[in-house]
Amino acid sequence: MKVIKTIGALRAAVAAHRRRGHAVGFVPTMGYFHQGHVSLMKASVKAHDTTVVSLFVNPTQFGPAEDLARYPRDLKRDTAQARAAGVDILFVPTVEEMYPCPAAVSIEVGSMGDILCGAARPGHFRGVATVVAKLLNIVQPDAMYLGQKDAQQAEVLKRVVMALDFPVRIKVCPTCREQDGLAMSSRNLYLSPAERAKAPAIYLALCQGAKRIADGERDASKINSLIKKLICDGTGASIDYVSCVGLDGFRIVRRIEGDTLMAVAARIGSTRLIDNIVVKVR
Ligand code: PAJ
Repeated sequence: MKVIKTIGALRAAVAAHRRRGHAVGFVPTMGYFHQGHVSLMKASVKAHDTTVVSLFVNPTQFGPAEDLARYPRDLKRDTAQARAAGVDILFVPTVEEMYPCPAAVSIEVGSMGDILCGAARPGHFRGVATVVAKLLNIVQPDAMYLGQKDAQQAEVLKRVVMALDFPVRIKVCPTCREQDGLAMSSRNLYLSPAERAKAPAIYLALCQGAKRIADGERDASKINSLIKKLICDGTGASIDYVSCVGLDGFRIVRRIEGDTLMAVAARIGSTRLIDNIVVKVR
């Protein structure tokens, strides 16, 4: 596996694979790999001759009061994990390489970027959309692999790709979970042992919500209240949002019909965790 730091060297390396007729899969990440990241790498490795993974903690998607400075980093461990997963190229640009001058151009993602995580993190999806567009232009892959864990991000990026005609397929892979149900996340590291013990309540509450929908409940506010209560009672967490989102149009819904995303963001201690599950209502 090659570890590459500059855009020029990355382009040259990908071009060499292309000359051999290779199909290229791409996994954008911010590093501190866990099994969720590795599952995306393996899915790409299985389906493509060449897999490129980017590792870049993108400053433009963090708010001023967020965890950019303390975001976990371990390049040595990440390199070993990517190599073991069969990745061909690990692209690790510096901030100066990606943003040589203050960015005057960015991608606006519209109202979809203002709900759920976008409401609490203004500008977050602009930062994500812009850096991923840059990475797609640099790598020029056939397919990009994203995780369902960040469902809104995947949806925003699908629309960016469609709206700006990026010639790339998007594959969304299932959320990898710890044995007790907690969605894997680089940010789980911030949890104290006591907080970690409480954190599975988020997924368990989502499952109870899904069960209530399967039993016939269609009023989203009742489902949201149930999920909130289950999370707060068990953990003392503060809820950022609990929402049901219609996947056709990605809008918050009052009545549950068709494919629906139940999405949660909650703070356990000072750590903000997100999770979601999709229910199919016929
Ligand atoms: P990061 O949080 O490192 O996540 C990289 C990819 O891994 C994303 O597509 C995310 O959805 C996926 N992922 C995270 N946890 C997962 C889990 N438990 N199971 C399956 N997939 C999981 O998301 C970002 O980085 C950044 O916003 C990025 C897209 C790289 C742009 O900077």
